[in-house]
Amino acid sequence: MNSIVLKQPQRIVFGTGCLTQFADEYLKLGKKRLFVLTADPVLPVLNPVLDQLKQAGVALQVETQILGEPTVSDFKRILKEAQAFHADSVIGVGGGSVMDVAKLVATFLYSEQEVEQCYGIGFVKARGVWIACMPTTAGTGSEVSPNAILLDEADNGKKGIVSDFLLADAAYLDPNLTLSVPPRVTAETGMDALTHCIEVHTNKFAHPTVSLYAKYGISLIAKYLERAVKDGSDQEAREGMLLGAMYGGLGLGPVNTAAVHALAYPVGGMFHKSHGLSNSVLLPTVMKFNMPANVKAYAEVALALGCQPGSNDEETALRGVEFVANLSKSCGIPQTLAEINIPQSAVPEMAKAAMLQQRLLKNNPRPITEQDCADIYNSLY
Ligand SMILES: NC(=O)c1ccc[n+]([C@@H]2O[C@H](COP(=O)([O-])OP(=O)(O)OC[C@H]3O[C@@H](n4cnc5c(N)ncnc54)[C@H](O)[C@@H]3O)[C@@H](O)[C@H]2O)c1
Ligand SMILES: [Fe+2]
Repeated sequence: MNSIVLKQPQRIVFGTGCLTQFADEYLKLGKKRLFVLTADPVLPVLNPVLDQLKQAGVALQVETQILGEPTVSDFKRILKEAQAFHADSVIGVGGGSVMDVAKLVATFLYSEQEVEQCYGIGFVKARGVWIACMPTTAGTGSEVSPNAILLDEADNGKKGIVSDFLLADAAYLDPNLTLSVPPRVTAETGMDALTHCIEVHTNKFAHPTVSLYAKYGISLIAKYLERAVKDGSDQEAREGMLLGAMYGGLGLGPVNTAAVHALAYPVGGMFHKSHGLSNSVLLPTVMKFNMPANVKAYAEVALALGCQPGSNDEETALRGVEFVANLSKSCGIPQTLAEINIPQSAVPEMAKAAMLQQRLLKNNPRPITEQDCADIYNSLY
């Protein structure tokens, strides 16, 4: 068996209402200046906690200006604010966009490195201040992962910064924070979480330790995603989804994603489509492409999704691909690049850009060429 290093925050708190526990635990740390990154829709739930901290004498600066998936300049602007505030601690309470920037702010706050020097795996040298993450979407798993993603306006490329220093000190996962997520965002972020679990389990570097998480994550998402999309107030579905997304996130450090993410990045980066949507459009086709390289793993994905076994692994695996396409369809997600208005003339450039994501493609169970990428994109017209 190959060896693996498990990576996760030292403290993971999961449970409905656990946001209130955060305030008590934060106050025990003795920090005095908290930089809060969040989003406006989350403030009604977060404000009582912030009031409690204020009353206890903590100075707060609240930033809610990350409106889309973050760019390098969004990050630099917010970093300057946190520096001017002399933060001694940071929280990110939001989707992956907010949490990724929060983790980067905490890391680069008092650093001499520039973020551009740290694209890739393992280039960050140190971490500035204490950080906690609280996800408000059931999607990226960033709260437990050592990854952060920025859109670099220089080349419209999505750049990953991967480092143990980007693991939050603590993660508080309170499903109540996800109750207000609108149906479209619930669907797209949920498909991102499913993609994480599937790419972790079928990864070239898959490992039983994290596959256990990934398969359970797949089962939870298969069971609860449609329910959460159809009725956002379904508490049980929101809990199941947040847990499923966390299990996906726990695989990102040790194993990470592969060709679905690599091919999705150009769609998101060049055409500003959400990360979840880009992944979900590509997921079934890339699964089918990868299947021959590890049909057993894809059959296991199908079983985790709840499909009946076929007469052999290939038949079972194909049922899984069909299940995933049907799930995304029934959650209202478009199925082709044509439907999301990506011009087919962009395929050659997207295929080139996908090939730059070698940090992910090296994980793919089947070797993939630029022509394969172009064929996959072209099949979605
Ligand atoms: N760090 C990682 O491990 C990792 C993994 C995958 C993706 N990502 C990155 O994360 C980003 C995407 O994050 P995301 O998919 O969570 O979406 P997001 O953070 O961009 O949020 C999507 C939208 O939902 C809104 N929203 C969030 N929570 C809400 C709530 N509770 N109620 C109402 N509205 C809410 C946001 O304001 C935003 O408009 C991308 O940049 C992607 O590349 C990071
Ligand atoms: Fe993702």
